Amino acid sequence: MLILGIETSCDETAAAVVGSDGWVHSSVVSSQVELHRPLGGVVPEIASRAHTRLILPVIRGALGAAGCGLDDVGGIAVTRGPGLVGALLVGVQTAKSLGYGLRRPVVGVHHLVGHMSAPLLRDAGVAGSIEHPYVALVVSGGHTSLISVEAEGTTRTLGRTRDDAAGEALDKGAKILGMGYPGGPAIEKAAAAYDGPPAEPFPRGMRRRSILDFSFSGLKTALMERVRAIGPSIDERTRAALSLAYEEAVVDSLVTKAIEGCSRIGVPRLVVCGGVAANLRLREEMSSRAGRAGIAVLIPPPRYCTDNAAMIALAGARMIALGVDEVFDLAASPYLPLPGELSRASGPAPSRSRRTGA
Ligand code: KG4
Ligand code: ZN
Repeated sequence: MLILGIETSCDETAAAVVGSDGWVHSSVVSSQVELHRPLGGVVPEIASRAHTRLILPVIRGALGAAGCGLDDVGGIAVTRGPGLVGALLVGVQTAKSLGYGLRRPVVGVHHLVGHMSAPLLRDAGVAGSIEHPYVALVVSGGHTSLISVEAEGTTRTLGRTRDDAAGEALDKGAKILGMGYPGGPAIEKAAAAYDGPPAEPFPRGMRRRSILDFSFSGLKTALMERVRAIGPSIDERTRAALSLAYEEAVVDSLVTKAIEGCSRIGVPRLVVCGGVAANLRLREEMSSRAGRAGIAVLIPPPRYCTDNAAMIALAGARMIALGVDEVFDLAASPYLPLPGELSRASGPAPSRSRRTGA
């Protein structure tokens, strides 16, 4: 069966056609980066308006690229939360209208469940598969969570950020360095090009091995202090050196805690997903350090790490196969908790300072 996936939780308008076996027939992502760049971050009202304008052309584009029409679609999956409420509403209302008109089931997908489904997507370049149980490190602009996936739909959060998400830390770090938006790719680019002497390393948050939570706000403050101490004469080379040390600190914390989480519960399989998983240093360092610890690592290709609708379609395909249909009662849910969560040992709620979730 072909599933139409729709994702509009933040600043990407995305649609995809995916088979229930995980085969990606098409995946179209229209980024709003250029609209938000002059303002240094995602502006919710601008995002909602852009989604409204783009959603139908993007869906048309996905159907066209898959070589099918709306009648060929067996069900519709849409991100229902967490995320920006106005942005989510555009996707949810479009999905419900299409589902009602076509008499097809519509299901709402949790954005993080979507990210965690990305390793199972398949196309000409990737043959995704993962065996339960596994540990998932979900690292995006709004979330940094280490999750034990015990069986399909049964999760236990092992750790999460106590302040900023990893992507948020990179975005804010780039802003402090005056390197623009989105910060993750900007820091990655500057760090990769730098070949000078290393800057003094940044402190790592939550160093205690017994804690699987993350913290990135101290890192951000340390960067701010160093930039302030250098003053307005800071040059490109210093910015690049600081980018490298900053990226190393974020990556080291993520890798250390992910390996510790796998060892703690004795699960030798790790999935890394979410936008920050597109980062090359994270991909390489995770693969080599986890490999040495006997942990098999699966990281989807970058195009399925950053926000896309293929991951939403696949997560929704499983719900549709179970007979779920929410066409009449689906609502956008900006603070949606992770479904199937068993329990959590300790720790506060995730940061919501960057935006309302996702
Ligand atoms: O999953 P995602 O596309 O959207 C959210 O659900 O938040 O993640 C976006 C985040 C942003 O913070 C962005 O800076 C970061 O992922 N990101 C990266 C890279 N590409 C995107 N961070 C580091 N390196 C990258 N190549
Ligand atoms: Zn995301």
